[in-house]
Amino acid sequence: MRRARVYCITSSACCLAMVAIVLAAQSSRKGKTYIVRVDSSTRPTPLASVSSWYAFLIASAKGLELNDYQDVADGPIYSYDTTFKGFAVVLTEFQAEALRSTPGVASVQEDRKVHLQTTRTPEFMGLNHVYELHPASDAVDNDVIIGLLDTGIWPESKSFSDDHMSRPVPERWRGECESAPDFNASTACNRKLIGARAMSRGYQVAEGPINETLEFVNSPRDIAGHGTHTASTAAGSYVKNASLFGYAGGTASGVAAYARLAVYKVLWGEGSVGYESDVAAAFEQAIIDGVDIISLSIAHCLSLPYDMDTSALSTFKAVEHGIVVSAAGGNSGPEPYTVCNPHPWTITVGASTIDREFPALIVLGNGASYIGTSIHSGADLAGDAKVPLVLGSQASHPDTYPEDAMYCLPDVLNADVLKGKIVVCNEGILDPVTKGMALREMGALGMVIMDSTSSPQKFSPSINVFPTVAVTVEIGDAIKEYISTHKFGYSSPTATIISKGTAVGAKPAPIVVPFSGRGPNPVSPIVPKPDLVAPGVAVLAAWPEDLPPSSLPDDERRVNFHLLSGTSMACPHVSGIAALLKSAHPDWSPAAIKSALMTTAYTYDNAGNHILDTAYSLQMSATSLAYGNGQVNPVHAIDPGLVYDIEAIDYLNFLCGLKNLTEGNPPLDLFLHLDVPACPTEEALLHPGNLNYPAFSFVYNQSGIQHTNASRFNSSVIRTVTNVGSNSSVYKVTVKEPPGVTIKVEPETLNFTASYEKKTYTVSCQAAAKAGLDTKLGVGITEYHSFGELVWSDTIHTVRSSISFIWTVKVLGVDL
Ligand SMILES: *[C@@H]1O[C@H](CO)[C@@H](O)[C@H](O)[C@H]1NC(C)=O
Ligand SMILES: *[C@@H]1O[C@H](CO)[C@@H](O)[C@H](O)[C@H]1NC(C)=O
Ligand SMILES: *[C@@H]1O[C@H](CO)[C@@H](O)[C@H](O)[C@H]1NC(C)=O
Ligand SMILES: *[C@@H]1O[C@H](CO)[C@@H](O)[C@H](O)[C@H]1NC(C)=O
Ligand SMILES: *[C@@H]1O[C@H](CO)[C@@H](O)[C@H](O)[C@H]1NC(C)=O
Ligand SMILES: *[C@@H]1O[C@H](CO)[C@@H](O)[C@H](O)[C@H]1NC(C)=O
Ligand SMILES: *[C@@H]1O[C@H](CO)[C@@H](O)[C@H](O)[C@H]1NC(C)=O
Ligand SMILES: *[C@@H]1O[C@H](CO)[C@@H](O)[C@H](O)[C@H]1NC(C)=O
Ligand SMILES: *[C@@H]1O[C@H](CO)[C@@H](O)[C@H](O)[C@H]1NC(C)=O
Repeated sequence: MRRARVYCITSSACCLAMVAIVLAAQSSRKGKTYIVRVDSSTRPTPLASVSSWYAFLIASAKGLELNDYQDVADGPIYSYDTTFKGFAVVLTEFQAEALRSTPGVASVQEDRKVHLQTTRTPEFMGLNHVYELHPASDAVDNDVIIGLLDTGIWPESKSFSDDHMSRPVPERWRGECESAPDFNASTACNRKLIGARAMSRGYQVAEGPINETLEFVNSPRDIAGHGTHTASTAAGSYVKNASLFGYAGGTASGVAAYARLAVYKVLWGEGSVGYESDVAAAFEQAIIDGVDIISLSIAHCLSLPYDMDTSALSTFKAVEHGIVVSAAGGNSGPEPYTVCNPHPWTITVGASTIDREFPALIVLGNGASYIGTSIHSGADLAGDAKVPLVLGSQASHPDTYPEDAMYCLPDVLNADVLKGKIVVCNEGILDPVTKGMALREMGALGMVIMDSTSSPQKFSPSINVFPTVAVTVEIGDAIKEYISTHKFGYSSPTATIISKGTAVGAKPAPIVVPFSGRGPNPVSPIVPKPDLVAPGVAVLAAWPEDLPPSSLPDDERRVNFHLLSGTSMACPHVSGIAALLKSAHPDWSPAAIKSALMTTAYTYDNAGNHILDTAYSLQMSATSLAYGNGQVNPVHAIDPGLVYDIEAIDYLNFLCGLKNLTEGNPPLDLFLHLDVPACPTEEALLHPGNLNYPAFSFVYNQSGIQHTNASRFNSSVIRTVTNVGSNSSVYKVTVKEPPGVTIKVEPETLNFTASYEKKTYTVSCQAAAKAGLDTKLGVGITEYHSFGELVWSDTIHTVRSSISFIWTVKVLGVDL
């Protein structure tokens, strides 16, 4: 009965009209969506079904007689069962408050917005996939199903062709391809795209009805491009001669070209906004449908304690069902504590560069030339052209501020001055494509963007409409100097822009990009985050054929592939690699797959140096707060030697321990779904630092060390490794200690004699106060961070874990 109802709400056409009425009725009362979790052990026995219990709860919160309660107008917009027990319902604030104090109701939370994790300007550049993994094979890889919660899909893209896939859809698949007026399931879905669904009720309550001139309410079709891009990055088919205006050309393919795709559209509108109530419904459905991997290039980046975070619950339940969850670490870097999706059971992915660049020269009339970044459509300038060069600030209308003109804001520019010239603009807030379109309209021939240090075009290049080069502030100053000293007559300033197309082999790469979300973990610093980094700059992947490569309505260009940047792009790389690991090791748990990805990640770039971090435009050595355990290494991840395995119960014990040290949370039973044993009494199990994570974090403050077995500044944690290499192998440990910390590992040798044998070891740290990098957190808090590592090696495998030390030494000016 209950199952039928859930099904009806999520997919049956017979219910669409009813849902429309619900939404119309509910939004007219100006309510908001609330996500309600219940304690199902408290359901009163007279209420025979879960749905009648929910009706009872809602009716009492609304002050209705049960007879007046109408399932259609008053009832839940979603019922949740697999991810957590509860429902989403539209209520006024007053009613929500009433519901909060109703017995059996565990929590009532307002629905929250989720966002895409592409960089701020949605136009970027890119490259092909660098993964020459184990030979992909139709015989094995195609049994893995990757589910994406995103903006939907453009099924006509060649990236979703199933020509190379001979085997039928796995029989265990229980998902569906749902039809809509613009989405014919029998032609859209095939052996590659095996499922497509849409969830929009939470969105509609918050944002109003979906504008059906843009997209249909129940259609999985992608009108924003993001979902098409991420799906093809994870598991797109081979497409020959793919490029964006000739840039980044080659054969495009997803990381797991033989894996299956199932998409769940949860973001709506061209601006692509989503709500957690819809995301939770998609998780629920994906678990029921039978996906193996969930790829989550979206986030709500204001992190809540795990037991209050709907997405923490949903991802946990997915992992408990054996599903690997890979999620974007967010684009809010480079400040500390900015990493999103930091749940311990999720693979949290940051973004790094690859070795491909899009260089261009700007050659000045005096012969000086500088190198910058350029991607543009249309013809190049002639290499020997001498085009007059002008600063935007020299081209303002008389009655406007030159400061505005400096940024080339179209309204303040004088076309008479710009015509036939290359214009030098400061970057500013307005995106370069918009400026370029306006300048081109006014007759300008090209543009130089003086890049701000905060969002270098190098890490998220715009797809410009005419010859354009982005240069650093230093080069921009040299160009300005040249212009100011060549103002007059025959020596007036000139320049040309020479595009060099696509250059591969750029060094150093990878580099951690400024926007990538940084650790420490804002929810539980004892679990380090992010976990690793993957390519997230200028990734070439499929794009809907009727969308421009910018989000601008006036942009008439159309492309089949697009270059995008963001942790949104890094995440599906890891989802695809996880699919390959899953096909190589079908019996591995999500934690084992994650461990393999983390402990084989590397920390050296292609120039042989430690990977760099470009935060704040400084080039410094990256730390594990930026790249976690390092850059993902798919080839080694297939054969990691040892794994740190974690079962669902271990995460629950971890939460028990965390809860013991955290005040003000609602009861942990919420997280436990009341169907697991009570918290353990064994002390070791209660130390959150003992969660069998493939990396370490030690957190110190005045009262000592948080969450570990410790006296002040002394601490010890335990780990257990499982041998997944050859039957007999002997591993020896080496550690790198940061200044001021002594690290001891006991035992120092692990002698395995059988496959899947487990061995436990202890890591003890003796730390001095205040060591490492002084990091101001901007709110009167200073922390010191320092870093070490621990490596187990049997001479064939290198099993590496990063170790972070975090000292909170000064809070609001008081030295602790
Ligand atoms: C969907 O496509 C199939 C196969 O081309 C066709 O037979 C069917 O009529 C189409 N359905 C709709 C509603 O257009
Ligand atoms: C729906 O979208 C179309 C096309 O963008 C727009 O012209 C129209 O104003 C929108 N309608 C509403 C109600 O927002
Ligand atoms: C490859 O693509 C480019 C740009 O789209 C096109 O001009 C060229 O003809 C294509 N080449 C082949 C062999 O298809
Ligand atoms: C927290 O754990 C300690 C043992 O580590 C125990 O003595 C204490 O009662 C626990 N506190 C709560 C609130 O559960
Ligand atoms: C905590 O550490 C002490 C000394 O290092 C050790 O004797 C004790 O067994 C540890 N307790 C746990 C629960 O790990
Ligand atoms: C230090 O850690 C203890 C133990 O977890 C905690 O209770 C306390 O609030 C922390 N103090 C500061 C200043 O963060
Ligand atoms: C930390 O451990 C070391 C070595 O075991 C010991 O000598 C020292 O007294 C300990 N310090 C504290 C504060 O417990
Ligand atoms: C490894 O051990 C398993 C049993 O634990 C055995 O079946 C297998 O033959 C062994 N492999 C090798 C290479 O010794
Ligand atoms: C590992 O253990 C086996 C069996 O106990 C033993 O024969 C072997 O010598 C050990 N190797 C090392 C290096 O300790």
